[in-house]
Amino acid sequence: MAVIPVELAGRTYEVRVGHGLLDDALEHARAFIEPYHAGGPSGRRQIPVVADRNARAHHGDRLARSLASGGYEIAWYDVAAGEASKSWDGLAQLTDWLLAQGVERGDHVFALGGGVVGDLTGFACAILKRGCGFVQLPTTLLAQVDSSVGGKTAINTPAGKNLVGAFHQPSLVLADLDTLATLPPRELRAGYAEVLKYGVLGDSDFFAWLESENDAVIALDPAAVERAVATSVAAKARIVAEDERETTGTRALLNLGHTFGHALEAETGFSDRLLHGEAVALGMVLAARYSERRGWLPITDAERVTRAIDRVGLPAELSALGLDCDGAALAGHTRHDKKMARGTLPFILLRDIGDAFLASDVELSDVAAFLDEELQAH
Ligand code: GLY
Repeated sequence: MAVIPVELAGRTYEVRVGHGLLDDALEHARAFIEPYHAGGPSGRRQIPVVADRNARAHHGDRLARSLASGGYEIAWYDVAAGEASKSWDGLAQLTDWLLAQGVERGDHVFALGGGVVGDLTGFACAILKRGCGFVQLPTTLLAQVDSSVGGKTAINTPAGKNLVGAFHQPSLVLADLDTLATLPPRELRAGYAEVLKYGVLGDSDFFAWLESENDAVIALDPAAVERAVATSVAAKARIVAEDERETTGTRALLNLGHTFGHALEAETGFSDRLLHGEAVALGMVLAARYSERRGWLPITDAERVTRAIDRVGLPAELSALGLDCDGAALAGHTRHDKKMARGTLPFILLRDIGDAFLASDVELSDVAAFLDEELQAH
């Protein structure tokens, strides 16, 4: 097991990465469970667990058995899979339920599932009684390496994704790698895009290791997947410790591939046609090629990024998506990006593999011309 601290002033917490962690959830989370008093209507020692239905079906028993060994029962709250659950209605229903459970400020709510459950539960806990505790039990690769770490919580509104939310850090993250075995292969690959991202943005050695070990990671070889997830989490922990609220530009580096990716998700209607991780993968290819076009990145490095993404079956060619739009329409989606500040949108570009930077002098018209070229077959 790897233990990675997220060091925040006075609020350091641990991300534990390993196999079988849910089987020992009671031991890992004891400090956050024991203070839980029987405030619920039943008067029993109940732990509120908000869970994605699939995650509960696959992993709920292991969590329940571990908590039962300490005399605790679970009060389950099921969340339907999919972004639609991250809504005002979903938030209202969840907070009402948590209040009915008698959750108090010193209590901890557990979130079992992927990014949807983690973001929704985290936001509910941020506002419940002006802030109660929560423990993240991420069950997707994307949630383990990204969304469960760093305290970004949010819901979606008709105006866009994650536009209403709060920074609210969990007290503990338990990333049980055994949960990855039940993920659909497409979802696992989509999460792998975020793993690659840490290499591309800040760690050329990790990128080179992923280039040679990608098959082992995707096949969930135990040692390879632990190294991949732990290295990713450590990279994110360093960035979050430096810039928790994304004010200095350091945390913004985590958005590598996300600005182009967001445009692709918007154009495909935030649908299963392109999963978030797939959009990030193609977004990283576009960021690398655009960096090359601007003379910052050698063409050989842009090609390496493209190959690393293509080799695991992630989308690496914009022209292959079959989009019915031009570059201006795609670039136009980035105007709604929440990172837009005073009318300009910072793009994360590359000087090298392992050396991302925030470019603030990017003209959307130039991006549109570049995307027009990319939309033509390579
Ligand atoms: N997912 C980007 C961040 O946590 O800042």
